[in-house]
Amino acid sequence: RPQDAVVVAIDGPSGTGKSSTSRAVATKLGLRFLDTGAQYRAMTWWMLTNEVDVDDAAAVALASDKPVLVSGTDPLNPTITVDGVDASGPIRTQEVTAAVSAVSAVPEVRARLVELQRTACAESAAAGGIVVEGRDIGTTVLPDATLKVYLTASAQARAARRSGELKGVPGAGQMSVEATREALVRRDAADSGRKTSPLAKADDAIEVDTTELSLEQVIEAIVTLVDEKLKER
Ligand code: DC
Repeated sequence: RPQDAVVVAIDGPSGTGKSSTSRAVATKLGLRFLDTGAQYRAMTWWMLTNEVDVDDAAAVALASDKPVLVSGTDPLNPTITVDGVDASGPIRTQEVTAAVSAVSAVPEVRARLVELQRTACAESAAAGGIVVEGRDIGTTVLPDATLKVYLTASAQARAARRSGELKGVPGAGQMSVEATREALVRRDAADSGRKTSPLAKADDAIEVDTTELSLEQVIEAIVTLVDEKLKER
């Protein structure tokens, strides 16, 4: 990619404010935005819709090149379509959330999505660059990113945020903070324990603990880190 394109990788477990933070950072810096979790969710939604048994890794692998996934990278209006159909709503249901770790552990799924993610990154260069959020962006997808951030927060804080978020999502149901916390800890364990590119902090990522920080403070911290990286060039 051209030397002057800015690539920001933001990784971490769910409920750390990754999506809101990444979108706001991209908006402030005039960059594109890619939510890779939405791609794993979209792949999962397609499997469920097409009655592929998500616990059958061989069946998931075989089907993984069938859905046509397209991500819109405007941070003010991120979109995802599956076979031309808007999937933004359906990918946030509890059914998808419960199945996504199994689907995202399948190497063929990851290979396909990583390719889409690198293409989106290359295509963003003309627009100045991109903020990409996920679990393995700094470690696997974009190891040469300009800046790598690893967001963390206590499990309690993450569950409180997630259950607050879920209230606004149609079809996501009403889960208590406690139930949300349990589901979240289970999903983190699956995401961190899988063989192919588990959730992990890259050695050169900067860790930001968001437990005690407001969204605004986290955004400011990351924008400052990007500015510092650009000055080093
Ligand atoms: O960020 P999220 O909760 O929407 O992500 C959904 C799931 O997708 C998450 O449980 C793990 C998986 N995922 C992944 O394996 N790798 C990524 N880069 C992003 C998400």
